[in-house]
Amino acid sequence: MAHRVTLKPSGHSFEVSEGQNILQAGLDAGFMLPYSCRTGVCRTCRGTLLEGRVDYGAVHPTYLPDSDKAKGYALLCEARPLSDVVVEVHELAGMASIRPRKIPCRVEKIERPAPDVAILQLRLPITCSAPSSCATCCASKARWGPSSCARNPTSRS
Ligand code: FES
Repeated sequence: MAHRVTLKPSGHSFEVSEGQNILQAGLDAGFMLPYSCRTGVCRTCRGTLLEGRVDYGAVHPTYLPDSDKAKGYALLCEARPLSDVVVEVHELAGMASIRPRKIPCRVEKIERPAPDVAILQLRLPITCSAPSSCATCCASKARWGPSSCARNPTSRS
């Protein structure tokens, strides 16, 4: 059974399907809720339950002790509503216009500081506002080359 979650102070609200956590449902509904690990460890997603009941999920007591639950805190990446709920949470302002996008990039460097860790240094393509006839760096082979364009030095994205 779906439950309605209302966010305070914004008043935004959305449905959470059976078994779904509040964070994912909120993100799916287009609201910019804070999060990082999504596994109940970082506490970035912590909100305060003002009304209703939740299943707190499989959160280790280190990250959400009973004393925090008594204060109304819940980790929204793990919390599943058991009724309609009202949650106080600081939504991220000004992020609505920023959407993830896929862009091609080149792997410039790979470091392996440990056997199971790789650090990738990526080079993004040049975004240039110069006319497409610019022969300095708009030729396809130069798109990945110079770190700045001779005609438009601030054109890197
Ligand atoms: S996102 Fe890290 S604890 Fe919820």
